[in-house]
Amino acid sequence: MKTKRNLNILEAIRQRRSVRQYTEKIPADEKLNRIIEAATWAPSGLNNQPWKFKVIREKGVKDGLRKFTKYRDIIDSAPLVICVFMDTGATYNREKDIMSVGASIQNMLLEAYELGLGTCWLGEILNRREEVEKYLGVEDDYELMACVTVGYSDEEVTKGCRRMPDSFLLK
Ligand SMILES: Cc1cc2nc3c(=O)[nH]c(=O)nc-3n(C[C@H](O)[C@H](O)[C@H](O)COP(=O)(O)O)c2cc1C
Repeated sequence: MKTKRNLNILEAIRQRRSVRQYTEKIPADEKLNRIIEAATWAPSGLNNQPWKFKVIREKGVKDGLRKFTKYRDIIDSAPLVICVFMDTGATYNREKDIMSVGASIQNMLLEAYELGLGTCWLGEILNRREEVEKYLGVEDDYELMACVTVGYSDEEVTKGCRRMPDSFLLK
């Protein structure tokens, strides 16, 4: 995927695609830091910022994580996986906090895209959420919301597909 510069927000939103195959190149820490920072600028109810992130770089840890999802090939391919948690200690309303964490994930995907990186939001792994939390040894307060793979795309650029905006407007 080529880096696109000077994107306006709608163009970036339109052009971002889920990437499931990556090169071996490891993204620089500066890029990773920007992705995490973007996540933290998401809105949240009462500005409670109910998110936590665990970055997984080690192959050994990824090899353990892959066992919890049928999308193991994506985890194998990605040089980085960011596990995203809701901090239930910071929570004030479960539904709103989950939405805030979702907003933080979308920020990450868009910032990564701006930096020329591909991502994939993995949700299926939540079917084994408690096992993953135990495996990663995170505190009881942290509830897994998603894993996001990050790396340089090794895929052809594809065009996304969405229904027309009108079809979502209630009359
Ligand atoms: C909540 C959520 C869960 C997802 N879980 C997975 C997943 O487990 N595996 C996967 O390959 N893609 C997953 N995706 C990515 C979607 O399949 C993808 O966003 C959708 O098909 C649209 O494609 P695009 O991101 O390229 O526009 C998930 C996306 C979201 C928002």
